[in-house]
Amino acid sequence: MNVFLTGASSGIGEYLAYEYSKQHAHIGITARRIDKLEQIAKKCTTLGGKISFYQLDVNNQEECKNVINKFVNEVGGIDIVIANAGIGNHDNMKTGDATIINNILHTNIIGLTNTIYPAIPHMINQKSGNIVIISSIASFLNIKFHGGYCASKIAVKTLANCWRKSLKKHNIKISTIMPGFIKSEMTQDIKFKMPFIMDTQTASTKIVTAIKQNKSNYIFPWQWRIVIPIIRLFS
Ligand SMILES: NC(=O)c1ccc[n+]([C@@H]2O[C@H](COP(=O)([O-])OP(=O)(O)OC[C@H]3O[C@@H](n4cnc5c(N)ncnc54)[C@H](OP(=O)(O)O)[C@@H]3O)[C@@H](O)[C@H]2O)c1
Repeated sequence: MNVFLTGASSGIGEYLAYEYSKQHAHIGITARRIDKLEQIAKKCTTLGGKISFYQLDVNNQEECKNVINKFVNEVGGIDIVIANAGIGNHDNMKTGDATIINNILHTNIIGLTNTIYPAIPHMINQKSGNIVIISSIASFLNIKFHGGYCASKIAVKTLANCWRKSLKKHNIKISTIMPGFIKSEMTQDIKFKMPFIMDTQTASTKIVTAIKQNKSNYIFPWQWRIVIPIIRLFS
């Protein structure tokens, strides 16, 4: 099994790399922090994974294309591509400067298309493949001061819903993963109480199982499947 993964230097991506290593997959792990990737690659190898690691900024379209093609040439195919890299932040509205919100939208949306698109021709040739989009429960919620993040997660969910129809005839499956709060660098400084927060290891195991089961849309922890429709009634 050949798996290509962005955002593998911490959090969910790091633990997805460990999960696939336990299954002896060949994994292409990427992120900007190469020192972190090097350490994670070592741990993956001890767990049974075969690792290629690449420094990659998902905002760089050309870099994404080169790295994915390099990985495919090295391992001879691509079974799963997981667009996991993402950032969250406050909308930063009062400054009048759109840099922060633009960076969220660019990284979370364009960074994802930069990641997925180079894999598609390979999957069409193979007549198989799994594309995994990491969205969020934020795609259902209109969270105050976090419009950029929520909008980015709605956008990637919509892309996935359309691509699922477009790529079906090529036997390419699309899974949209919508986690609730997960322990990671992204949530470590959040001060408010995060309902149903889940540890990274459990979250990654659940994501890998959902991908294996070809789930089109996977919301977890399960409590959110009940709470989201109720919140949406009032927002
Ligand atoms: N934690 C949660 O509660 C939660 C809930 C729902 C969805 N999610 C989603 O899950 C995904 C992973 O988040 P996480 O919680 O694991 O957060 P995290 O620990 O902060 O990890 C984010 C990862 O994305 C990478 N990244 C960020 N910007 C990048 C860029 N421009 N180019 C390449 N890599 C980049 C980071 O690596 P470098 O900094 O080394 O580049 C890091 O590996 C995100 O898409 C996030 O929106 C998280």
